[in-house]
Amino acid sequence: MFRLLTGEEIPLEFHRARIVQMIHLVPLERRLAAIKAAGFNTFLLKSRDVFLDMLTDSGTNAMSDRQLAAMNIADDAYAGSESFYRFQGKIAEIFGKQFVLPVHQGRAAENIICRAFLKNGDVVPMNYHFTTTRAHIEANGGKIVELVADEAFQTESDCPFKGNFVIEKLVKAIENIGVAKIPFVRIEASTNLLGGQPFSLKNLRQVRSVVDHFGLFLILDASLLAENLFFIRSREPSCAQRSLPDLAKEVASLVDVLYFSARKLGCARGGAIATADREIFEKMKPLVPLYEGFLTYGGMSLREMEAVTVGLDEALDLTITGQMPACIEFMVGELKKRGIPVVAPPGALGCHIDAIKFLPHISQKIYPAGALAAALFLVSGIRGMERGTMSSTRGTDGSDLLSDMELVRLAMPRRVFTLSQIKFAIDRITWLYANRQLIGGLQFVEEPKVLRFFTGKLAPIGGWDAALAEAIRSSAIADTTMAEI
Ligand code: F0G
Repeated sequence: MFRLLTGEEIPLEFHRARIVQMIHLVPLERRLAAIKAAGFNTFLLKSRDVFLDMLTDSGTNAMSDRQLAAMNIADDAYAGSESFYRFQGKIAEIFGKQFVLPVHQGRAAENIICRAFLKNGDVVPMNYHFTTTRAHIEANGGKIVELVADEAFQTESDCPFKGNFVIEKLVKAIENIGVAKIPFVRIEASTNLLGGQPFSLKNLRQVRSVVDHFGLFLILDASLLAENLFFIRSREPSCAQRSLPDLAKEVASLVDVLYFSARKLGCARGGAIATADREIFEKMKPLVPLYEGFLTYGGMSLREMEAVTVGLDEALDLTITGQMPACIEFMVGELKKRGIPVVAPPGALGCHIDAIKFLPHISQKIYPAGALAAALFLVSGIRGMERGTMSSTRGTDGSDLLSDMELVRLAMPRRVFTLSQIKFAIDRITWLYANRQLIGGLQFVEEPKVLRFFTGKLAPIGGWDAALAEAIRSSAIADTTMAEI
């Protein structure tokens, strides 16, 4: 954050825009039609109807001039591509793990890992799940057990490392499950579904010694590792003087396998699994040509692979990596000042609104976070993502497994939005908070069995969308300057 003479702290951008892409704030009537057609699910909106796309930071980051330049030297060979050896060399240099398997994105890495190591009835202890991780573990007959502190679910908190394992819980879980049923322990950097909350280096060292004690192995989901390293450096006093590359080396040395979605970590598109253990590598290797592509491209475009190689270097540059957390800190701070409930402390990935506190009149069974995401689109053209019970699943008795939190995530893709756009988002959320009684719940009308949040359709219970639209029409935020396209 940069301190102005007025005392205000702002997320100063250390880049300039050289290519821009037009976006449109379409009129209310069109937004209303769009959210209805999307079944009140922001995943089903079309880009052309969206003003600020805060759905995700996955594959939506602004690429640098260096990344774009690197794409031009891609070697498109099916096998033995020079681009792969540059990619592998960079991962080995940064993480000290020389065995590298490219995959088309993060969940493809999860597919390979689960197929290689999981058997029916296994249990994977982890700090917290990500949706695709849980889906792959369950699809392979496994279960998960989550071992963070209860405080991780308190949205108003000053706990700097909500992504930490509770070590006693980890030990107990391993003893209860039994080592034979545990294929590996998983730790996720900047834990996505907790609101981008990091683990500490101290905690990771402790997890490592527990894992060693039981003779297990440890897998790191490094998709949001850059920001986790940034938080280790800024929140863990013993690490304040350390560089991000230095921290990356130590973190990687404490795990047996790391995988990542390069849509986040590499600021382009793709993914990888890396290890220094030949035996572990050999178990996964045959699955890559089967599910992804030959070993030197793994389903990735080689142009993107070149961009990721540069992106990984940039991810360890403090000035570049610090930009996203600064934007999030600004937005979280401003919303808190207005009394709007958000996840604190600010984490990585985006600003997360607590929908349970925002909409206390809506029970979890009728998806408050989904309703809030739809309502926010209606008032602003901003597309966020539901991260709550809609993103969960049903238990064996058919009832919803209620999520630990109900969040609306407003993602902050790296180097994409300007401060004035962030201020617009804050302004519209403020209006919505003052009018929150107008928002009601949602119910599914089409509900897929797996990962239902992606393509499921819902309806607003009691037709609350009409009253909300009417309130917008007759308010100070009624459309005045919006373009018809
Ligand atoms: N692990 C984490 C921590 C993630 O955040 C994601 C994706 C994945 C694995 C899967 O990677 O999308 O490349 O297959 N997160 C995206 C998001 C989808 O919007 O947060 P993927």
